[in-house]
Amino acid sequence: MWGGRFAGGPAAVMREINASIAIDKRLWREDIAASRAHAAMLAAQGILSSEDAAAIDSGLEQVAAEIADGKLVEDPALEDIHMHVEHRLGELIGPVAGRLHTARSRNDQVATDFKLWVRGAIDEALLGIDALEAALIARADEHAATVMPGFTHLQSGQPVTLGHHFLAYREMLVRDRSRFADSRTRMNESPLGSAALAGTGFALDRVATATALGFDRPTANSLDAVSDRDFAVDYLHAAALTAVHLSRLAEEIILWASQPFGFVRLPDAWSTGSSIMPNKRNPDAAELVRGHSARIIGDLVAMLVLLKGLPLAYAKDLQDDKPPVFDAHDLLALSLAAMAGMVADLEFVPSKMRAAAAAGHATATDLADWLVREADVPFREAHHIAGRAVAEAEAAGSTLDGLTLADLRAIDPRIRADALACLTVESSVASRTSAGGTSPVRVKEAVAAARAASRSPA
Ligand code: ARG
Repeated sequence: MWGGRFAGGPAAVMREINASIAIDKRLWREDIAASRAHAAMLAAQGILSSEDAAAIDSGLEQVAAEIADGKLVEDPALEDIHMHVEHRLGELIGPVAGRLHTARSRNDQVATDFKLWVRGAIDEALLGIDALEAALIARADEHAATVMPGFTHLQSGQPVTLGHHFLAYREMLVRDRSRFADSRTRMNESPLGSAALAGTGFALDRVATATALGFDRPTANSLDAVSDRDFAVDYLHAAALTAVHLSRLAEEIILWASQPFGFVRLPDAWSTGSSIMPNKRNPDAAELVRGHSARIIGDLVAMLVLLKGLPLAYAKDLQDDKPPVFDAHDLLALSLAAMAGMVADLEFVPSKMRAAAAAGHATATDLADWLVREADVPFREAHHIAGRAVAEAEAAGSTLDGLTLADLRAIDPRIRADALACLTVESSVASRTSAGGTSPVRVKEAVAAARAASRSPA
């Protein structure tokens, strides 16, 4: 397709290093859609006759049908998906196929195709996020009052509700969704018509092709348009941060399912066994979500490094933009689906979670707060008194709520009977009613607000 000025063919290895069809064949739908929009515009502008445009359009439709049928014949000599489509079009409709590439370059072509693909990937990611969000909200509703230890430094801190914990992840997803949506808005400009790098002398209607392909407007600068891959970076950043959030949740599931925690039983559907240890029940899916995040982060880094030293405009380095994006898309889709499935199916053991919350003397802050509120003790002093109560409980092999009123009054006589009531984990979580707090009342409200705000019914 470009051999006019060459006498010899490429070396075998040149052909091999140059060929991207095995990877960029995933752009075929976008390539055909953009070509059809381009041909229609050329005809409307009188650059292409309407008969030629009609032949090209139905030919492209046929190529699409063949590829959809799995009939794409890959030939490394044809380099990439753009040349494969054009070549097959030529076989089907003859030399008129050669008119399709008027006022177009593979540089604006690939930028357009790839943007369309990434835009679709964003829409898919948004759906995956919606599904996981729905699972989180449903479990939060179910467990609005289920008490578990809340950790700082992975040390038992204060009791929290499992519903509140789930909704914390939902907040991360809300931000992830806005990052994807934001990058979609920013990227939605059509590079088509930028040609190789400088624009073209043909009287194109770039607004027409942009509109036909669902873009908001054409890009403003041809040099930027053919070499810009910021949209891929934006996508990968949103994907990487989403993957990091999934990895944190995966890590918690792995911890919770471990025997010393025992907060949760991973159902058979999300567990694997060991080939040697018959007792094992491994959280492989959660571990792979955690592992996949490393690869998605790597995809983001690969894309940034690919771009960092590139002078304007297009360089073939940019052909390597696709593997990280495809990889991240596939891994993120699987991770979101696996996480939604796990969250929906986890079998919690509330008795274990409650016992763990109580075992950590996690209501010590509540005792200190009682002293401040009911006995007018300054918080620092109250903190000290509650600390002595914890030491007393520990020495007695008890939990804080196992101490008697006499035990507590021996530490400080200002403590009265009603202080005992605030030492249970249930009263602790019930008391945390500040906006954004863990109390079941606030969690139920947050569930209702999340449902009202979510795009899909939870
Ligand atoms: N396969 C190429 C890519 O993905 C298409 C653009 C080729 N352009 C060029 N001038 N060789 O980047």
